[in-house]
Amino acid sequence: MRLILLGCPGAGKGTQAKMLCERYGAAHIATGDLFRAEIAAQTELGKKVESYLKAGTLVPDAIVIDVVAKRLEESREGWLLDGFPRTLEQAQALDRWLEKTGQRVNRVLSLRMDENAIVERITARRSCPNCGEVYNLRAKPPRVEGKCDKCGTALVQRSDDQEHTVRKRLMVYEDLTRPLVAYYRSEHIFNEIDGNKPMQQVTAALTAVIDEDRTAKLGVRGRAER
Ligand code: AP5
Repeated sequence: MRLILLGCPGAGKGTQAKMLCERYGAAHIATGDLFRAEIAAQTELGKKVESYLKAGTLVPDAIVIDVVAKRLEESREGWLLDGFPRTLEQAQALDRWLEKTGQRVNRVLSLRMDENAIVERITARRSCPNCGEVYNLRAKPPRVEGKCDKCGTALVQRSDDQEHTVRKRLMVYEDLTRPLVAYYRSEHIFNEIDGNKPMQQVTAALTAVIDEDRTAKLGVRGRAER
């Protein structure tokens, strides 16, 4: 399985990616999560990217492409890209890497989201700094206020989830990332899914597309073997 999950900030990419990777056994390559882990560990890479994440702007393409290429090399069995590509240059770099390694993307799934609901959704996000579980004060509150259901750690708000930074991220998305929808839409592997629906309904819509692809692939394999 080689999937790209597109969508604006807060569209539900991380939430859905986690479920899909568990279900289908693919590596979850989430550039935002990778950068946040490097920042928390105070590595050289973390120091380089911290100011971009804080400001809600994009990390330079050369840095991102290098980080993702390494993760792709380690994940030959299948992967799901969450938050990458985010610029045309990143998409073209991915195309070159796929060509070089004789691989191709099975499907590009784009989560569509109404802009007026995004800020409300993102500012209600809380996450666990210990196990990474993500909550939402409205849609998915923890059982005990402020505490992670899984490990009991105090939940935190991401530093880039303040309203003014969310608005900046949305502007950056419109300018640099939304054009990728047109880039992939022309391919027959592109699907748009309504990300405004409740989480389980979004998961069901995504898995329906993936399961259809898998059934079609098994059918082709079966016919070839007969
Ligand atoms: P990144 O972490 O990728 O942030 P993002 O793309 O802005 O996406 P989010 O993580 O905010 O949202 P999501 O779509 O994953 O939503 P989630 O599932 O959490 O990137 C952060 C930064 O890193 C960037 O700003 C940039 O600086 C840098 N970066 C990363 N990749 C880069 C790249 N390729 N190039 C350059 N720089 C890069 O859901 C959000 C909330 O909504 C949660 O609370 C969740 O519980 C809730 N929720 C989810 N689904 C639903 C639903 N259906 N109904 C109701 N609530 C829902």
